[in-house]
Amino acid sequence: MQAPVEIFRSDYKSPANWVTEVTLDFDIYSGSTIVKSTLSVVKNEGSTVEKGDLILDGDDSSVKLKEIYLDGEKLNSGSDYTLTSSQLIVHSSCFTGKSSFKLETTVSIVPEDNTQLSGFYKSGSMYCSQCEAEGFRRITYYPDRPDNMAKFTHVKITADADSYPILLSNGNLVSTTEKDGEGRHSAVWEDPFPKPSYLFAVVVGDLGSIKDSYTTTSGRNVHLEIFSEKENVGKLDYAMESLKNSMKWDEDKFGLEYDLDIYNVVAVNDFNMGAMENKGLNVFNTAYVLADQKTATDGDFERVEGVIGHEYFHNWTGNRVTCRDWFQLTLKEGLTVFRDQEFSGDMGSNDVTRIENVKGLRGRQFAEDAGPMSHPIRPESYVAIDNFYTATVYSKGAEVIRMYNTILGEAGFRKGMDLYFERHDGSAATCDDFRAAMADANEADLEQFSRWYTQKGTPTVKYSSSYDPSTSTFTLDLSQHTASAPDNEPFHIPVAFGVIDSETGAELVESQVLHFKEASKSFEFKLSSDPKGTAVPSVMRGFSAPVKIVSEASPATQKTDLLTLAAYDTDGFNRWEAGQKLYTEAIFTQLAGDDVNLDGVYQAFEQTLTSPKISDDSIRAYGLMLPSESGLAEDMDIIDPIGLHDARTAIKKKLARKFQAGVAELYDRLTKEMSGAPFEVNSKAVGKRRLRNTCLDYACANKDTDEEVIASAQLAHKHYFEANCMTDQVAAMSILSNVHGVPEAEKLRDEVLSKFFDDANGDALVLNKWFTIQAVSSKPDVLEDVISLTSHPEFTMTNPNRCRSLIGAFTANSAAFHAEDGAGYKFIGEKIGILDAMNPQIASRMVGCLISFKRYDENRATKMRAELSKILEIEGLSPDTFEIVSKALS
Ligand code: ARG
Ligand code: ZN
Repeated sequence: MQAPVEIFRSDYKSPANWVTEVTLDFDIYSGSTIVKSTLSVVKNEGSTVEKGDLILDGDDSSVKLKEIYLDGEKLNSGSDYTLTSSQLIVHSSCFTGKSSFKLETTVSIVPEDNTQLSGFYKSGSMYCSQCEAEGFRRITYYPDRPDNMAKFTHVKITADADSYPILLSNGNLVSTTEKDGEGRHSAVWEDPFPKPSYLFAVVVGDLGSIKDSYTTTSGRNVHLEIFSEKENVGKLDYAMESLKNSMKWDEDKFGLEYDLDIYNVVAVNDFNMGAMENKGLNVFNTAYVLADQKTATDGDFERVEGVIGHEYFHNWTGNRVTCRDWFQLTLKEGLTVFRDQEFSGDMGSNDVTRIENVKGLRGRQFAEDAGPMSHPIRPESYVAIDNFYTATVYSKGAEVIRMYNTILGEAGFRKGMDLYFERHDGSAATCDDFRAAMADANEADLEQFSRWYTQKGTPTVKYSSSYDPSTSTFTLDLSQHTASAPDNEPFHIPVAFGVIDSETGAELVESQVLHFKEASKSFEFKLSSDPKGTAVPSVMRGFSAPVKIVSEASPATQKTDLLTLAAYDTDGFNRWEAGQKLYTEAIFTQLAGDDVNLDGVYQAFEQTLTSPKISDDSIRAYGLMLPSESGLAEDMDIIDPIGLHDARTAIKKKLARKFQAGVAELYDRLTKEMSGAPFEVNSKAVGKRRLRNTCLDYACANKDTDEEVIASAQLAHKHYFEANCMTDQVAAMSILSNVHGVPEAEKLRDEVLSKFFDDANGDALVLNKWFTIQAVSSKPDVLEDVISLTSHPEFTMTNPNRCRSLIGAFTANSAAFHAEDGAGYKFIGEKIGILDAMNPQIASRMVGCLISFKRYDENRATKMRAELSKILEIEGLSPDTFEIVSKALS
């Protein structure tokens, strides 16, 4: 193994030479693909690199160099060029005096052996590519860095015509040839837009597709086509609808139109990540394209819409303006996630989308930022850039973009976006360029705001308030501090703020954004009228900054304040948040073994269950749900996974018992309302299903005696067999999968599990759910189930989705994974060893579940550390996994 090299942001230098134009020729044969490239090279006059050598990246575990010519002259190894395991260096002596030259190389690669799924590889019967971040160097020798933008003027693909009728690459189709004497045919593609190599793509296969078209505002007619394996063509319609909605939304919201005549999307079974925004040829993990009533849950539909939007929006934020270097990744990812979140909110409900996104951030990003992988959204160094496609770069990055929007207002943000494109279209930019465009377009001071790019950790904002009736003055005191990074300088935190009258629910000051820039500060307000009750602050409305927000009022005041906000806050997010905080407090009291007074919780729950003021069923459902274990864990210094699980379950049971009648009534009413209605995917229908399934969950949580266990299993069983869609089936099966110890109920559980498996009829995405639901079960013997499922004929480690569906899902089953005997750790440790040899990207992601051992008690920490040490000793460990494990152990 090559010693892992750490790369630093501060070391960026533009290269000595630029490649400006590329032609590629792919000749695909089973077991060997020949790639010929011609690079037009010019000197970079602005470079400060001392030696003028042409440096081409190439991973010699994948590419084998056959020939190399410079302006037609054959080059010799040693005197003309040097080949290392990762680079081909063409000595400047070969081109001194030339202002430009052409370099031709021929390499061979074996996509059939590429198990890393980076570069050019085979997935089932098709070939496809994944080049971001550094996959292109596994296809051919090239300056594989995002600041080198070149025109790919001629990409020719040749393959067997019968096996591979579809030949795709970026841009426009220039020409095709008919099947020749050897049964081969070819296609030539040209992409008129200069692009970095990470946006290159090729797809070759025998695919089905659906076609549509979209006319842009300025009248360009765009041919839209979505490809998949033929048996899945019936599941592409929702993706196509979402694509057209995305195109329209970006025109309406940002004035951005599509710029080519073709937009192709391909669904691929074996894919490391979600999807990839290659210019004019998106490649998608099947899980984010395929969706229909029978096989996809509402969550899946939502993800398809979100990811289709995400990749489409990248065409401007990523492709037209790309990143200068990989440290700038959040420039395109944070911004594009923000855009896809806004799009999803506009397609459905903004409050619902906001709640879902914040739940996601708290459950994953907060944990990451509290562990050894904590990094600023713009990291300072990396070993393997693939390790930095993180919740921090993506989700916290999106929160940082959202803060510009909050600080500058929607119109100001749009002005900043316009200026950003005016300045940087067609080039590779930095996060500082983006911030400068936002500041300059608005004449705003965003100097201090830059700390969001340089400082890591989740800040905690504490607040207290007081009211002086003699002067009608309301005072809000704020302080900020980052516990995990105590040296942080104060952030510029936009605090969206209002004051609510506890008696009338009236807003006592105009809702506004405070600019909190100091370690601590007091803000004073004159109230519009004296409060009839008390004046209750509503802080961080809409989750206006990615921070933890903590009240310093007495526990009693906090409780009454939260009840006020849960009932009256005009901000939908904070109404929901108030309920969550009440639940959280109850769960932690239960965990501490103290007497829990549930009066407040009952009041909030009842209000949510019955209030006629709540018109959105999703909002009602989310208001009834308890915070997730992963979100709650972030409020504990030392995480007690089993205690937390038990405490949460206990509170849920108490709610279920107390509101048994109300929940049953709502469930029955919804069942009646929905019966016979056609299946639809829109916020109304989704909300109904979400609320009814939440009721089912509470109805089934109420089980102390065997009779109650059987009764809830029967209810879930009935729900399953009456279901008309995957959402309802999954809801019922998830409940049943927890059943254990009561034979009569277990029979119902097993019946549903095997019916689900049979009905899946081999559908890969449905089978993934079957594996996942069993892996996240609360059964005490779940690890045994998981181990035996690893030898199920449908299980394989080579398909990332399948691997994640069982192994990854088990690591998310916190109480089981963190079993005190360490069996969960041992199981995962072994799997990571096997995975690393096959697919380092997947292995290094998986190892994340072991690295936060400092957050656990000594017994667990020791056992987690032991597994990490074993992994570190693996011979030939990938740099990817090495980076994560060594950081954790250092
Ligand atoms: N740019 C892609 C997206 O967010 C993700 C590519 C991730 N690739 C990787 N090797 N980590 O849409
Ligand atoms: Zn992206």
